[in-house]
This record gives sequence, structure tokens and C-alpha cells, in this order.
Amino acid sequence: MHSDLGKNVLITGANRGLGLAMVGEIAKNYNVDRIFACCREPTKAKDLIEVKRKYPIVNIIKLDIQNDTTIKAAVEEVKKILGHEHLNVLINNAAIFENSLDEKSDGSFETPERGYFNRHFDVNITGLTMVSGAFLPLLKKASAAKERALLINLSSTLGSINVALACQTLTNKNIAYCLTKAAVNHYTHMVGTYLEGTGVIVACFCPGWVKTDMGTEIAELTIDESIPHLIKTISNLTKEKNGGYYTRYGEVIPW
Ligand SMILES: NC(=O)c1ccc[n+]([C@@H]2O[C@H](COP(=O)([O-])OP(=O)(O)OC[C@H]3O[C@@H](n4cnc5c(N)ncnc54)[C@H](OP(=O)(O)O)[C@@H]3O)[C@@H](O)[C@H]2O)c1
Repeated sequence: MHSDLGKNVLITGANRGLGLAMVGEIAKNYNVDRIFACCREPTKAKDLIEVKRKYPIVNIIKLDIQNDTTIKAAVEEVKKILGHEHLNVLINNAAIFENSLDEKSDGSFETPERGYFNRHFDVNITGLTMVSGAFLPLLKKASAAKERALLINLSSTLGSINVALACQTLTNKNIAYCLTKAAVNHYTHMVGTYLEGTGVIVACFCPGWVKTDMGTEIAELTIDESIPHLIKTISNLTKEKNGGYYTRYGEVIPW
């Protein structure tokens, strides 16, 4: 059992896709006491409820990252469950990518649709920022107690200005998603710089192109080819990597 994730880990968007897989991977292979698996609709999260049945360390928490009331309530619920313990890892995983491969997407250069852009920005960057701000005091308490403290953001190579792949695959399809992931990268670098020396380590990662609802079935990788590597890399994160942008293997991705 690995143990470098501390004792308490929180993951957003944990009811399906990569978030659900992270819960299973950590519960199975890491020596943690609790996983706070957050999702919008706990009673409908069938697969997550199944994982919780197998691994009772999983706590299912209601959290819609577009809704400040649920963010506040989630912080209170997590604090209550933690008691005198600390939150060691926050993984900002929840995101949207509407009509990712659709030529007629409302995220095109010619016919951008305001609501479409606003939804992507609200979930993928504003929501992520709100959740990070809300849980940051708990991470800081962990670092003050000399415990592991990690703030992890799920990004994508589609957010890289330098990686040509991004342009080749998605030109004129959904630029909104790419812009929000570039914002996630910038946020990661800024908050990493802000927290430098506090003991909280910040980083963003691309999991690879993975077969999920978002990645679609034509993606390159299975979940098993991505998530175990990603979680291992996160668990091995050192302060030298603070504020950076990495692949699931920990290789630097150019901004
Ligand atoms: N799959 C890929 O190829 C790939 C590649 C690069 C990066 N990523 C990144 O990896 C992360 C996970 O992607 P995925 O493939 O697992 O996506 P996914 O299968 O579409 O799952 C997205 C998750 O985010 C949740 N979510 C969406 N809006 C939310 C909100 N307002 N509040 C709370 N949760 C919300 C969804 O919950 P609901 O079920 O309630 O909608 C779902 O649990 C994302 O950040 C994505 O950008 C994925």
C-alpha cells in the first residue's frame, strides 16, 4: 500500500469517469483514512455508491462546483467528519467539455455562443477557483501540522498554447474548453507561486486522452492506462514541482 497522499483526500466530480476511477484506485492501493468523493447528486451516483460499499473509507459528499451554497455546505460536512484531522489532498477534477468532437459546436470561431462559453468558464475555472479557495484553509492546516498538503488541478494538453496537437485536433470545434484549461494552468502557476514556502504543493496534470464520457470511445487510453500512473505521480509530488504543468508520468508540459 502506498501512503504519500496523507490521510484524507477530496475529489470533485467523483461519480463517473476519471474522478470515479481515482476514488477506486486510491481506496484500493493507497493507505488513506478517508476519501471525500464529491458529486452533484449523491443519491443518483450508482457506481460511486457501489465503490463506497466495497471501501467504507469513501464518504460521498454533495458538491456542485457551480453552486456556492453546496460548496460551503461541503466544507462544513468535511470539517465535521475530519474532526481534529486535516485535509491532505484536494483534486479538482470536475469539468465539462460539451460536444467535444462536434464541428457545429457553439465553441467555434465563427459562431461562438455566449452561454456555451459562460458554462465552460463557470465550471472549469470559476468553479475550480471557488472550491480551491473554500478548502485552502484546510490544506494550510495540514501543511502547518507538517502533513502532506496537495492542491491538484486536472488540466489538459488542450490548454497548452505550445502543444500543436491541441490545434490539430480541435481547431474550430470547441475553443471554449481549451481556453478554460489554459486558465486552469495559469491559475495553478499563480496559486503555486502564492503558496510557495507554505508547504502546500500545487500542480496541474493532463491525464492523457482517455475513454470516458468526455474523452469519448475513440480516445487513445483506457482509464487503467491513465489513472494509476496519474495517482502515483501525484503521490510522489515534491516541492520542486510546485506550480507546474505535467503529464500523468510527471513530465513537464510546455505552457
Ligand atoms: N477524458 C479525457 O480524455 C480528458 C483529457 C484531458 C483532461 N481531462 C480532464 O479530466 C477531468 C475528468 O474528465 P472525465 O473524462 O472524467 O470527464 P467526464 O467523464 O465528463 O466526467 C466529468 C465529471 O465532472 C462532473 N461535473 C461536471 N460539472 C460539474 C459541476 N458543476 N459540479 C460538480 N461536478 C461536475 C460530472 O458530474 P455529473 O455526472 O453530475 O455531470 C462528472 O463527474 C476533467 O477535468 C477533464 O477536463 C479529461
